Amino acid sequence: QRLAILLSGRGSNMVALVNAVQGGVLNGLAEVAVVFSNKPDAPGLETAAALGCPTASLSSQGRKRDEFDAEVVDLLNQYAPDYLVLAGYMRILSPTFIRAFAGRILNIHPADTHQHQGLHAYEWAFENQLPETKITVHVVDEGLDTGPILAQAPVDLRGANTLHEVERRGLAVEHFIYADTLARLLRSELKVEN
Ligand code: GRF
Repeated sequence: QRLAILLSGRGSNMVALVNAVQGGVLNGLAEVAVVFSNKPDAPGLETAAALGCPTASLSSQGRKRDEFDAEVVDLLNQYAPDYLVLAGYMRILSPTFIRAFAGRILNIHPADTHQHQGLHAYEWAFENQLPETKITVHVVDEGLDTGPILAQAPVDLRGANTLHEVERRGLAVEHFIYADTLARLLRSELKVEN
């Protein structure tokens, strides 16, 4: 199955996914069709190229959402992806974009999406001194972090005294659960409800 990985920044989840494709749980199950960014200078794009992935970008700066998304859909379709995997893609997708890949767009959110949606989820957990947070992998629908949940994993935050430590623990779980969930989906052990 062909994956298009979308990112806007650092790309640590992308690296975990590519590693899983190249020699981990996704090996033989998936290939990386393209790593796409809406930010041509995203560090993750360079990292992806260094890992041997095809890369593409289109700058979203100053663009109208619908027009930009239509171009991205066309570009991604050239790579014939089976799944779009959002990995720190900092854009809200237009309904047209979501319908073009309905049920085939996945996202990772660094909180329980029933409790927290949108940006700054680690800050939220840290400021509220939560003893535990949850990482969520879900299917993207037209709401913000509202789609059907595929998997959740707890992160023990007891004794995490800095935001950096909260993020460090959370990212370790993110990097495991995203590839693991995708592998279960591609092996048809998980079903996406539309
Ligand atoms: C991650 O925390 C992810 O859950 C969120 O954005 C962050 C992206 O980090 N959606 P990275 O670019 O994968 O390192």
